[in-house]
Amino acid sequence: MEFPCKDFKVGKCEGQKLVDGEMMPMVLLPPVADKADLESLVSALKKNNDWFEQMIIKNSAVLLRQPMCTKGCGPPMKDPSSELTYYHHEMILIKESPMKLVLFCEMPPPGGGETPFVPRFKETEGMLEFPEAVEEMEKKGLKYTFTALSKNDMSSMRGRASPTPKRLSSNLRSEICCRTNALGMDMEWLPNGGVKIVLGPRSTTRVFDGRKGRRMLFNTVVGMHGKEHTSALMADGTEIPDNVVRRCGEFIEEESMQFKWEKGDVLFFDSLALLHGRGPSKPPRRVLVATSSNLDYVSLVVCVFL
Ligand SMILES: [Fe+2]
Repeated sequence: MEFPCKDFKVGKCEGQKLVDGEMMPMVLLPPVADKADLESLVSALKKNNDWFEQMIIKNSAVLLRQPMCTKGCGPPMKDPSSELTYYHHEMILIKESPMKLVLFCEMPPPGGGETPFVPRFKETEGMLEFPEAVEEMEKKGLKYTFTALSKNDMSSMRGRASPTPKRLSSNLRSEICCRTNALGMDMEWLPNGGVKIVLGPRSTTRVFDGRKGRRMLFNTVVGMHGKEHTSALMADGTEIPDNVVRRCGEFIEEESMQFKWEKGDVLFFDSLALLHGRGPSKPPRRVLVATSSNLDYVSLVVCVFL
């Protein structure tokens, strides 16, 4: 069948997989190599905006591969990239997490540092092994807790990446509480300067418009269950069975796919349909991210490039 867009051509990358008849990620290339600059990309995206949005929802992940980084690279990311960032939906802990995620590779790592991703509707099929447990989780909802450490406590990546300022005025504390509550979280200040956050009830699976009626596992149970600083329970406090959580983790590993970053790659995710993570990386690495539900992909591309 003829490819219906003249402004891109279809390419390939190592690691892509055919999932339910769609290639993930779908790889798109500029029609000619010398059209691989930001201006040409933005103009092609604007011209084909509706088609491009549909392509991302249909394939869940689209990789634009073009050596087009025309600006100088900024410094490598400061986060501890030697550590694994476990699979997650972007910002799933807030009430309505963003639908669109764009990643731009400005500085590919010399080793590791991939962005593995997992289609969640495939995992849902696997969860049919546990119909009673899933039904109970659906019915009761889920509750998560996490403890954000104080600035002085650097024993976890969360503490190092998101330190809590040591001293906060009571006005600032109450402002933080208001904003956190607006995002659907309850918070409690701890004597050591950290905070404990409780969220729930939250759903176990969701069906989003326009995605073939697919039921997505839309939770962060595997990432938070039974960890030192986080927990995931059913909303009434019932434990989620260990074997269910373990098998969910296995499904994630089984269905995961990844490719090697190249300079100039722009990756578009339907974040409602995919989990993503970050593999441990050798430095330096610089992959920039923009996310939104309301902005179109052209605006997000401009965000990651500026
Ligand atoms: Fe992320």
